[in-house]
Amino acid sequence: MPEIRRLTAADAPANRDLMLEAYERHPEAFTSSPSEYVNAPMTRWVDRLPPGDNPHSLVLGAFDDAGRLVGVAGLSVEDKIKARHKGTLFGMYVVPEARAQGLGEQLVQGVLAAARARPELRTVKLTVTKGNDAAQALYARCGFQVFGEEPMAVQVDGRFYAKVHMWCDLRAMEG
Ligand SMILES: CC(C)(COP(=O)(O)OP(=O)(O)OC[C@H]1O[C@@H](n2cnc3c(N)ncnc32)[C@H](O)[C@@H]1OP(=O)(O)O)[C@@H](O)C(=O)NCCC(=O)NCCS
Repeated sequence: MPEIRRLTAADAPANRDLMLEAYERHPEAFTSSPSEYVNAPMTRWVDRLPPGDNPHSLVLGAFDDAGRLVGVAGLSVEDKIKARHKGTLFGMYVVPEARAQGLGEQLVQGVLAAARARPELRTVKLTVTKGNDAAQALYARCGFQVFGEEPMAVQVDGRFYAKVHMWCDLRAMEG
């Protein structure tokens, strides 16, 4: 059974390799490009995994039986006083060989549980590239609703892709 846990600074190298693979394999799904980060120092990846109970961002990882990182999803929290009730789900990726086993859903549910554990958080939002039906359906299954669409949000090899914006109210989801 895969283990899902919060990544720590020690996981930064594995997280880096996984995200660079994700950016390479799915250029339309991620706003980041491999060339922007391939030479970045490891501190850039460590900074995404700060310690503590109320970090500005956290990343959950799914590990297979061999202890290999096979999936990730992150939660970041706004710093501005008037926007501190909002979290953002970012960087969702599961390696092709570990897909369709429910890991994506467990990671999204884990991010929502981490958000619910922070009383100041009320909403979580995310964006998904229009046409990425697998990811959009997964988010809808987990309770996210579409609230808008940004046309021409990313450009990949001369082609524009829209981003669908989704959100959920953590309190409404509690039932
Ligand atoms: C989107 C993504 C994260 C989904 O990951 P995943 O681990 O395959 O997600 P799940 O297994 O929870 O769900 C995927 C499908 O498998 C099905 N599934 C879940 N458990 C299953 C099981 N035990 N047996 C068979 N199918 C199963 C789900 O019902 C779902 O079906 P759907 O295609 O009808 O939606 C993955 O496809 C990915 O990394 N894609 C590329 C990057 C990307 O698009 N990221 C999102 C950016 S916004």
